Amino acid sequence: MPIKLAPSILTADFSRLADEVQAAEAAGVDMLHLDVMDGCFVPNITFGAVLVESLRKVTKLPFDIHLMILEPERHIAAFAECAGTINVHIEVSPHINRTLDTIHKLGKRAGVCINPGTALAAIEESLADADQVMVMTINPGWGGQQMIPRQLDKVARIRAALDAGGYSAEIMIDGGVKASNAADCARAGANVLVCGSSVFNAEKSVAESVAALRAALKGVP
Ligand code: DX5
Ligand code: ZN
Repeated sequence: MPIKLAPSILTADFSRLADEVQAAEAAGVDMLHLDVMDGCFVPNITFGAVLVESLRKVTKLPFDIHLMILEPERHIAAFAECAGTINVHIEVSPHINRTLDTIHKLGKRAGVCINPGTALAAIEESLADADQVMVMTINPGWGGQQMIPRQLDKVARIRAALDAGGYSAEIMIDGGVKASNAADCARAGANVLVCGSSVFNAEKSVAESVAALRAALKGVP
């Protein structure tokens, strides 16, 4: 199965966001990753449902909503109409199975995210219920950080746990994905890669950046 690319708009030019998103769509990416931050669970504040609704009008790409907020269950409904997948962090979801169920009842795919400092055991009981496991390979808060390579071992262990349980959840990696490490991510067992600064950056066009990632993934795993 080809590895999917999910550009995050965090390092895009927000003054021309529609153009940036449409450039990613034209480059053939698989979805758009939207990072919602509240300044409490993570240090930074980004945007909320109003911006997501505006973007919904300018692209057909499925939206992968990454909620980095306290009490995510209170805000799921606000994002549901525009979303393909809604992802919540295990660290702020004491009733994760209920939260995943709430997302499913709204007709959306449900993802569980795990921070670098959180042990895999925290999500073990959710593997059967989640459509996606998002492994953070940075401490969330900003785009453009370096990947913590040791987290790829966690990805491999999650892949093994999913396979052993016969579960079909996808594994998404979020944080520091670049052309130089994309193949390692895929080999570890991920099948969806969030790519922020490796797609939206000053060095290359969006099309060139996406092409470089695709080239790095050719024939892998
Ligand atoms: C960070 C976000 C990531 C980020 C990825 O907290 O969750 O999605 O935008 O950006 P890069 O790919 O630049 O690490
Ligand atoms: Zn993210």
